[in-house]
Amino acid sequence: MSIILDGKATSNQIKEELAEQVLALKAQGKRPPHLAAVLVGNDGASLTYVGSKVRSCQKIGFESTLIQLEDNITQAELLATIEKLNNDTSLDGFIVQLPLPKHIDEEVVIDAIHPDKDVDGFHPTNFGKMALGMKTFIPATPFGIMELLKRYKLDISGKHAVVIGRSHIVGRPMSILLSNKGNPGNATVTLTHSRTQNLADITKEADIVVSALGVPNFLTADMVKDGAIIIDVGITRVTDANHPKGYVIVGDVHYDQVKEKASYITPVPGGVGPMTIAMLLQNTMLAYTRNAS
Ligand code: GUN
Repeated sequence: MSIILDGKATSNQIKEELAEQVLALKAQGKRPPHLAAVLVGNDGASLTYVGSKVRSCQKIGFESTLIQLEDNITQAELLATIEKLNNDTSLDGFIVQLPLPKHIDEEVVIDAIHPDKDVDGFHPTNFGKMALGMKTFIPATPFGIMELLKRYKLDISGKHAVVIGRSHIVGRPMSILLSNKGNPGNATVTLTHSRTQNLADITKEADIVVSALGVPNFLTADMVKDGAIIIDVGITRVTDANHPKGYVIVGDVHYDQVKEKASYITPVPGGVGPMTIAMLLQNTMLAYTRNAS
């Protein structure tokens, strides 16, 4: 039996800490931090995530602005919106929700965001700083996982961490953060991906597995070592007519099997997902603090 890494409770705690900081700022007559989110199109999952980010801002006293753009907006129009946000002094940071429609080049869009306002930590300048272990905005999902490990006091120094998936948003930065100097950190990391051979042989050797693949129930008990720490980043919508929403959210980890073998495990939902939002808010507070000083 494993101990659940409760991302929901931990994220609520972080949000309470931030809410207290906002109250202190307001008591000093200062404005609250301000986050904007740009959403292009009507993708159901993206709408849910962005809605949740905006609601969380409101809950802790941050100001928030949601900018919704049509699916058929041109790249030039989106870049013009980003330029406006870069120059808006009432804003501390903003995000452009990914994925973007196929006709828009994500690399060009991310490159257009001013690094000082890039609270997602996706801009090459911030990504580079993160890789060098410098203070900067860290992509919210891997940042949330590191924070969860920290708050549960899990020591991963010298341990073998296996990351599944090499996306720019999760897998790649995760592999860097786990291996960076620090606590948590100092792990020996294997980054696996779609071309990896004999994946199960590698995961079976892992003291910690971070799965960011997007394949429901992919990681089964036979792929996991006894006592491993299991972090599930998967949030795939699976059709389920019995559910009022018509779907359920399923992680990469076969939870019922793997929880019997793991020492610690994140549930889906209620694990990594809520931590992502809390760390975006944390990054926004960092942007605010930099602006104010
Ligand atoms: N799409 C999935 N995760 C994220 C995220 O953390 N930030 C943005 N901007 N888009 C995402």
